[in-house]
Amino acid sequence: MDILVVEDNKPTLRLLEKKISMWGFPVHLAENGIEALAKLASSPIDIVLTDWNMPEMDGLELCRKVRKPDMRFIYLIIVTARDSRQDIVKGLESGADDYVTKPINFDELHARLGIGARIVRMERELDQRYAAIKRNYFQTIHMFTNLIETFDEDLGGHCKRVSQLSLRLAKWFPDLSEKDLNTLEYAGLLHDIGMVGLPNEIASKRRVEMNSDEMHLYQTHPVAGEIILNEIEALKPIAKLVRAHHEQFNGRGFPDGVEGNEIPLLCKILAAAVFYDDLVHKWKTPLGDIPDRLQRMRGYELAPAIVDFLLEINSEDIRKAGEEDLREIALDDLREGMILAEDIRRESGALIMPGETALTRRSIEVLIKFSVLHCINNTAYVYK
Ligand SMILES: [Fe+2]
Repeated sequence: MDILVVEDNKPTLRLLEKKISMWGFPVHLAENGIEALAKLASSPIDIVLTDWNMPEMDGLELCRKVRKPDMRFIYLIIVTARDSRQDIVKGLESGADDYVTKPINFDELHARLGIGARIVRMERELDQRYAAIKRNYFQTIHMFTNLIETFDEDLGGHCKRVSQLSLRLAKWFPDLSEKDLNTLEYAGLLHDIGMVGLPNEIASKRRVEMNSDEMHLYQTHPVAGEIILNEIEALKPIAKLVRAHHEQFNGRGFPDGVEGNEIPLLCKILAAAVFYDDLVHKWKTPLGDIPDRLQRMRGYELAPAIVDFLLEINSEDIRKAGEEDLREIALDDLREGMILAEDIRRESGALIMPGETALTRRSIEVLIKFSVLHCINNTAYVYK
């Protein structure tokens, strides 16, 4: 149990250091609130004993800063000569857990440190238990995702990608909190859990290919997902999103047909991620054709702002795919359909063939002829 003593009066500081060390506690020292905050950031302090009146930052200000929600629990004791009832109330209201008046009675201080140590131990145990509950919560969600994958491998992959894509989209909305991002991430993983139990072939069918019975069944899956997740109290915010993942900007989605700005932002993001992933993986739309498809959905199925962000993501994907697929290849190994990654020029700089050319049998022959004449290298950079 490490104790930090904050005191600007050096004799008092040394006396407290000596006594507390004698009681077996590791002691750290600071002469004002600012030094104390630096020690708290760099050392494993559990209890702070602070004077009230100090230069730079006094004890009350220190207590208020230590009590900010992002700080871990520290037991705070104010040790001061200010002993009026109003001062004691003011000190405790600043966030202190206890208040000791000077001149210090060391038996009393020892007893009060014992109380502090007991409360710190309980707080640390609570932290550990909370961390274990949180771990179980995440494991439950991943277990559900694995269940979806067992039902249908493609659907499981879709859920994992939608989760990641939702987070990429969320980057354009800086006002979203960490809690929102967690909700979005897990709603992405679980959004199609309602498909479990439906006939497998429905998951792979286009909606236009479904007969009316299949369509009816398919349209039940967001509500079925919501019902499954609502069984767990902590998953209720996620269940709401799952219900809404097929809502559309034009109000023609399901199950509720909500439209425009009535659709909460997280639902719009999730629905857009579902739409984009279906385009790429279910309908195998080439990345280069996606901007046109997205523009056609602007203001209809998708919110206009979201379309802009999906276009950015599409550009990133095209760039990444290009980087991944770029390779140097011997001219003899060129095949029709490959795309030149850069201009092919003679040593003089004269252009023979521009980058982005889709190679044909004829253009490959031309390149090989120039290579035989030693006008160009016998390799080229292409996209697969
Ligand atoms: Fe769905």
